[in-house]
Amino acid sequence: MTTADLSENNGAAAPSDPAPVVELRGAGKSYGNIRALHGVDLAVHPGRVTCVLGDNGAGKSTLIKIISGLHQHTEGEVLVDGEPVRFTTPREALDRGIATVYQDLATVPLMPVWRNFFLGSEMTKGPWPVRRLDIARMKKTADEELRNMGIVLDDLEQPIGTLSGGQRQCVAIARAVYFGARVLILDEPTAALGVKQSGVVLKYIAAARDRGLGVIFITHNPHHAYMVGDHFSVLRLGTLELSAARDRIGLDELTNHMAGGAELAALKHELAQVRGVDVEGFPEAKDLQAPVPASPEGNS
Ligand SMILES: Nc1ncnc2c1ncn2[C@@H]1O[C@H](COP(=O)(O)OP(=O)(O)O)[C@@H](O)[C@H]1O
Ligand SMILES: [Mg+2]
Repeated sequence: MTTADLSENNGAAAPSDPAPVVELRGAGKSYGNIRALHGVDLAVHPGRVTCVLGDNGAGKSTLIKIISGLHQHTEGEVLVDGEPVRFTTPREALDRGIATVYQDLATVPLMPVWRNFFLGSEMTKGPWPVRRLDIARMKKTADEELRNMGIVLDDLEQPIGTLSGGQRQCVAIARAVYFGARVLILDEPTAALGVKQSGVVLKYIAAARDRGLGVIFITHNPHHAYMVGDHFSVLRLGTLELSAARDRIGLDELTNHMAGGAELAALKHELAQVRGVDVEGFPEAKDLQAPVPASPEGNS
């Protein structure tokens, strides 16, 4: 996919965009006296991919836990369809169409793929009290839904644990789409995957977007983000360091933000004093940072 293919999807703040499904205004979260997240603004639009990037401990998981009802925000506002909400359980978020696929996928490895697809929402048939699982219909539906998303598995009877990590992510995405999610939150879905499997997951992220879902894609890989993202929000130490629509930022600049330009430059300086460390390949500060306003000396 090229940049040109995606350019029509840029600018999450463009006036032509549909109203956001989920919006954060100055949202934050403290765990006791640890402030994990502070003053975060974020908008999730239907048919758009909002990427949330940041280093370990930046607050990415905390952010999505607030939206998915696992934790509650302690400052600011969370809105769904323009209305302030405060979810107390993930069920409440799900009822508003917010589905989350966590890093440690909530699947039962030894159960077949189709069974996992319907886990917790099984189809049944027959009158009470002899209602029983409608296995045939579940298998058929799971098969259709996976195919609709372009996911072809040889055998839905195989235990889900035998699928690759990428395939399991894809099943989880198709499942969320089937159960009517409007917002799909993916917490680092490509973190443990190789290049090829990551590509497959990115493809289904794009497929979910094309079906009109608003996607929140958490990653620390700017390349993955840039392949599917319409908007990029970079967190650092719990605050938004950058929030930019696709047409406002290039991959290079995004990568530099993620690399922590200024910190890397400082590190290079320090490492240069250590014998046996080759800092040649390290980027220069000037390559890493956005141009700063000219200093007074510079002007004279
Ligand atoms: N349940 C918790 N209790 C206390 N501190 C937490 C808790 N969860 C996260 N934190 C802290 O909040 C910060 C952000 O964490 P997290 O949201 O997991 O970041 P990320 O997902 O970007 O790696 C970290 O400093 C982390 O130690
Ligand atoms: Mg995390």
